[in-house]
Amino acid sequence: MNKPFEFRGGKPLVSEQAGVVVKRVGAHLGAEVGGVDLRQPLSNAQFKAIEAALVDNELLIFRDQNISSDDLMAFGRRFGELTVHPFAPNEGKNAPELIKFRNDEKTPPYGTDVWHSDETFRAEPPMATMLVAKEVPAVGGDTMFVSMTAAYDGLSDRLQQFVSGLDGIHDMKPFRPLFGKSEEERKKLQHFELMYPPQLHPVVRIHPVSGRKVLFVNPQFTVGINSMEEHESRALLDLLFRQALVPEYQFRLHWAPHTIAVWDNRSTQHYAVHDYYPQRRYMERVTIKGGPVTGVPRAEPSTIRRLKYVAPAGVDVHGGHKPH
Ligand SMILES: [Fe+2]
Repeated sequence: MNKPFEFRGGKPLVSEQAGVVVKRVGAHLGAEVGGVDLRQPLSNAQFKAIEAALVDNELLIFRDQNISSDDLMAFGRRFGELTVHPFAPNEGKNAPELIKFRNDEKTPPYGTDVWHSDETFRAEPPMATMLVAKEVPAVGGDTMFVSMTAAYDGLSDRLQQFVSGLDGIHDMKPFRPLFGKSEEERKKLQHFELMYPPQLHPVVRIHPVSGRKVLFVNPQFTVGINSMEEHESRALLDLLFRQALVPEYQFRLHWAPHTIAVWDNRSTQHYAVHDYYPQRRYMERVTIKGGPVTGVPRAEPSTIRRLKYVAPAGVDVHGGHKPH
């Protein structure tokens, strides 16, 4: 007999904790959060509710939060240290952690219309990113999100087994075209390449809080699979990248002015839909520092399911998986 369908494993669609109301709006990810005013400092209880909701829902949406850049940075700092993007233009000495995306007729959007988790070219990619909409186009300019936990769960047992224990090679490749051809520019690029060498990250990572498994490769930064022939790794990556394209695993966010999105960068990917040029779209972003990426060991078929939702506290689940 078929098991009765249980949405979200029996969790309620709406929950409230410390006055923070979390309403699930997507099947695999996405919840709207109400009952808070982000212009005011959050109490510890309110913040704890939001932090837990982020892990649970992977993407949080706050509507009608007319906050300043300082408020955005203060909210971000509740989650952890803010990081400075090495390649995106920022607000200089006063607020290097703040990125302003101003797109209009003269400044078309660049490089965000590809599925990715933010900054996986880093040894420790961000744990979360926050974006607030200041000005939105009359039509278009949505952001697509995808749950990479759902994407992993959707793979067959055989493929889950095959990719467990593999490492993806993540590279700063999308930023190379930002550098010119002069000797000075090539030296600058070399300097960045030394600072950000390619990183190995497990293809299947374990979320450090939920313990769920996540498919952790993306077409923006993942350029190969370690220890595989180039043509093999190309074919495997094409197959895995396609998981992000499955509509059932996605959520499409339609922005309004003063909408804030916070996504768990460890378990999701996103794609900024570039369909609004030459209209104006103005967003502000902060990014929160992440920790090491832990993966799963190469698993025997019988252990695959058993490991699925287990986060052994304090145990090195990386399985002796070291870059080499
Ligand atoms: Fe991004």
